[in-house]
Amino acid sequence: MRSALDNPFSPGSDTVPDIWAGRTEQLSDWRDVIRPRRLAGLPERGRTVLGEPGLGKSSLVRRIAQEAAATGDWVTPQLRIPSGADPLKLVASAILRLADEAGLPSSREKRIAETLARVQAVAASGISLTLHKKDGPEPYTVLSGLLVEVGRAAIVRGNVALIHIDEVQNITDESALSQLLIALGDALTHEESVTVPGGARLNRSLPLAVYLTGLPDFEDMAGARKGATFARRFKTTTLTALDDDDIEAALQVFVLSGWEVPDGNGGVGRIRMEPDAAAAVVELCRGEPFLFQLAGERAWYAGTGDTITREHVLNGWRTARSEAIAHVERILARLPKRESEFVQAMAELPAHERSLTRIAKKAGYVKATDAGPTSQRLDTVRGIIGRGTLYTFRHRAVEAYLTGSWPNLD
Ligand SMILES: Nc1ncnc2c1ncn2[C@@H]1O[C@H](COP(=O)(O)OP(=O)(O)OP(=O)(O)O)[C@@H](O)[C@H]1O
Ligand SMILES: [Mg+2]
Repeated sequence: MRSALDNPFSPGSDTVPDIWAGRTEQLSDWRDVIRPRRLAGLPERGRTVLGEPGLGKSSLVRRIAQEAAATGDWVTPQLRIPSGADPLKLVASAILRLADEAGLPSSREKRIAETLARVQAVAASGISLTLHKKDGPEPYTVLSGLLVEVGRAAIVRGNVALIHIDEVQNITDESALSQLLIALGDALTHEESVTVPGGARLNRSLPLAVYLTGLPDFEDMAGARKGATFARRFKTTTLTALDDDDIEAALQVFVLSGWEVPDGNGGVGRIRMEPDAAAAVVELCRGEPFLFQLAGERAWYAGTGDTITREHVLNGWRTARSEAIAHVERILARLPKRESEFVQAMAELPAHERSLTRIAKKAGYVKATDAGPTSQRLDTVRGIIGRGTLYTFRHRAVEAYLTGSWPNLD
């Protein structure tokens, strides 16, 4: 029996879903590159994970953080920056909690007690400390100072401290943004002198890792204008749609063995999915993580028996249509006018005619090269299109919405 309590699909935001698909590259980047390198004292940049709404940025880093916590690392919760809020306060409080976990408050060292007191002041007053400061260091120096202490404690413990700041595009105060990026960047690039077996001294990086997540707009705020320093200290990944193969693989558990649920009599039942039901989910969601969860959730509710059929998926999707439309419309509505006109023009051309020249002409540009910057942004910053001899859509739900009858089934 399928019940709401057992439904493993979770459309929404910020959840780490039970039915996880893909993102293997990013997960392995954490497991095989960032964590081992930072543990070994090797330099490794922070990560910025950007992408259009609903592509799974928050879920991805929450999953990485859960995995890290399970292996004994110290992790901050997902620090969501509300629009216009002072990020320094939020981040200072989070680093204080990391310091607690690291046992720093019980240290007898004067240096540490002073650092903690300074960060408490930042947690209370944030960026305004810069404006009203009489003497004493700027907030960013104070924050990176405590991070360095946390990093030193992590060396002793043999673990990593991971910081996740979400919705970074909401940091609108330039000076707060620059202080935050410098504080994190300084801690990441800090070199600690350590004694290795045999007595030699050498420099190592601290076992700290930083993830920033948010909308692609952040790239404009930090990337270009804050310039070279930020770009050298953080590596940016732009998430795009999931591969159909990955979604299919995620549903395989349903198709092969069935998803375990309590059977109501103290035992275990299994909910299966017919192969063509799974194929319908893959087809409907177009690689969008949010729409994948939505399609799955509705299919689960569309019947009560032990088998999810193709009919259930299609009936469920009918109830999801308006939400699916709203999701894609939100993405399109956020685009600046020129970008929006460009994708519209692109969608109006048949796939084999989508050259830059033709799209530019259709979008009303005098010269094709004039459309260059717009198309470049849609590709590299947003991941919505791909440029080549012929242009393609990488955001397949946007493509489906603009070019066909999707999300209608008929
Ligand atoms: N790898 C994945 N596999 C399956 N479902 C996923 C995956 N990643 C995210 N989801 C689901 O997609 C939905 C959106 O995820 P999330 O909130 O992380 O997106 P986001 O990119 O942070 O969006 P926003 O820009 O609105 O904050 C959630 O329901 C989540 O469960
Ligand atoms: Mg998010």
